[in-house]
Amino acid sequence: MQVFSTVRELTEFLDTLMKAEKRIGFVPTMGALHSGHLSLIEKSSSENDITVCSIFVNPTQFNNPSDLANYPRTLERDTTLLQTVACDVLFAPSVAEMYPKDEVFSFQNIDFKGIDSVMEGKYRKGHFTGVVQVVKRLFDIVIPTNAYFGEKDYQQLAIIRRMVQSLNLPVKIIGCAIVREFDGLAMSSRNARLSEKERENAALIYKTLLVAKQNVQKTTVEELKKWVTEVLNTNTFLRVEYVEVADSATLLSIDEWQQSSSRRLFVAVFVGEIRLIDNIVL
Ligand code: PAF
Repeated sequence: MQVFSTVRELTEFLDTLMKAEKRIGFVPTMGALHSGHLSLIEKSSSENDITVCSIFVNPTQFNNPSDLANYPRTLERDTTLLQTVACDVLFAPSVAEMYPKDEVFSFQNIDFKGIDSVMEGKYRKGHFTGVVQVVKRLFDIVIPTNAYFGEKDYQQLAIIRRMVQSLNLPVKIIGCAIVREFDGLAMSSRNARLSEKERENAALIYKTLLVAKQNVQKTTVEELKKWVTEVLNTNTFLRVEYVEVADSATLLSIDEWQQSSSRRLFVAVFVGEIRLIDNIVL
């Protein structure tokens, strides 16, 4: 595996491959890699000639400074892990390398059709501006044929699809199913920050989503959201930030089942200090 920390080295390396019309698969990450990330790398490697993974804890997408400060940074361990899967290139730039000039980034020219202002967009102000900024920059550097994102961050995936469509970028976005722990908890780099007790109780999130899915026909949308909120909040380790039912494509919230033929249930839950998100198709 080749490891690069500068844009120049990486683009020089990729240039030859691009000229040879090789398919470049790209898996952008913030590190603290887990099996969910590795499954994206395996998928990329099965569909492309070369797979590039980036590790960059992007400061511009953190709305909470303590979340940024405490985000796990495990580059050495991540590098070793990537060597065990079919990753060809690791790009691990510094903040100065990614953002050489002070610039105010705005994506005002992209119409996200409201996707950016609900759920994560509403509760994490500025988060998606930072995500779009870094992903656009990474796409400009790597110029991937295909890019892979997990469905745990379902809204992020929808935002990136919209950005690509709106800016007409020559990359195919591939969404990949959520990878879960043995007890159903969606894999996330933040899980590593949970205490043993918190980790145990966090399993209730997915268990509740599953029961909600089974009960769709029996309740109204409002009743279902209320039930999920109550079940999760009854557990003393958990505190719900939002429970939302939305259309899978527009991500706009629905109040009646018949408003959408493809619905998803989304939750954001604090487990102690750690904020986790999950979603399930209904
Ligand atoms: O999903 C993530 O890990 C990040 O939001 C991403 C896409 C790597 C951008 O920093």
